Amino acid sequence: MHVSVLLREILSFAPKPTRRILDATVGMGGHSHALLKEHEEASLIAFDRDERAIELASARLAVFGSRAELHQGDFRDGLASIPRQSLCYAVADLGVSSLQLDDKDRGFSFRFDAPLDMRMDPRGGRSASDILNTASERELERILTEFGEEPKARAIARSIVMERRTRSNWTTSAFASLVRRDAHGRPGLDPSTRAFQALRIATNRELEGLDKGLDRLAELLRPGGRLAVIAFHSLEDRIVKNVFRNLKMSGAFELLTPKPVAPQDEETRANPRARSAKLRVVEKRPETVS
Ligand SMILES: C[S@@+](CC[C@H](N)C(=O)[O-])C[C@H]1O[C@@H](n2cnc3c(N)ncnc32)[C@H](O)[C@@H]1O
Repeated sequence: MHVSVLLREILSFAPKPTRRILDATVGMGGHSHALLKEHEEASLIAFDRDERAIELASARLAVFGSRAELHQGDFRDGLASIPRQSLCYAVADLGVSSLQLDDKDRGFSFRFDAPLDMRMDPRGGRSASDILNTASERELERILTEFGEEPKARAIARSIVMERRTRSNWTTSAFASLVRRDAHGRPGLDPSTRAFQALRIATNRELEGLDKGLDRLAELLRPGGRLAVIAFHSLEDRIVKNVFRNLKMSGAFELLTPKPVAPQDEETRANPRARSAKLRVVEKRPETVS
């Protein structure tokens, strides 16, 4: 079961009153459900790339009837139809969900043997296995270095290229064993963790255009409206931090979290996956007319 991260904090940053909410990454609908429950006057539009997430969130949010409208797709592509200055609160809880990580058939985790797919939206794009088979050695090294900060990126990229001479279909186990030959772990961290993260980010192009997507969300806020973003790794958080810094420098936004908000100990004890979460929030200045 997916446990929503920083739920109390997401609720506490909601402007009052909140009438129109956008959830860019609805997942299992935990944040959306709590927001709609607390703000009886609000309606919500939500996105997720993952069909299964949309199915589950739709069922969970059905109690709110027409107040919740869900769309399968990437929020970075889905914002064009939303009027400017219409949102009171936009939230984005980036990255992968436990639903995806714990699905033993989708290839997100080395804990289960499965085809190495890793696509959040399997309707299109290259699977992780396709990337391993088609990217150049240099490109593989770049993916592992840039998205996984993997010190053994070069050696692993070389091993992938050697291995693919005889292998066309990669599984999670095959990839994890190959990486473990070269990479080092540490207590509590499997040596293939970084490489899995890197490959997942590349497969879903998670960082591409994220800055533009966040800028667009900020544009859609009404004066006094807020944008709250949860990032799970430093690469993502760096992008959020830079976008928010530029918004603040434009003079039209106030940064409500000079330091990112992290989960309380109580939350990380109950949900260790929350450990790396960081929440940042900006508010569009009430007097702003853009
Ligand atoms: C951490 S989960 C969200 C959990 C949700 N906030 C909750 O409370 O249940 C992240 C979700 O974002 C989705 N996702 C990631 N990037 C996305 C994007 N660019 N557009 C739409 N959905 C995205 C993933 O498919 C995943 O379901």
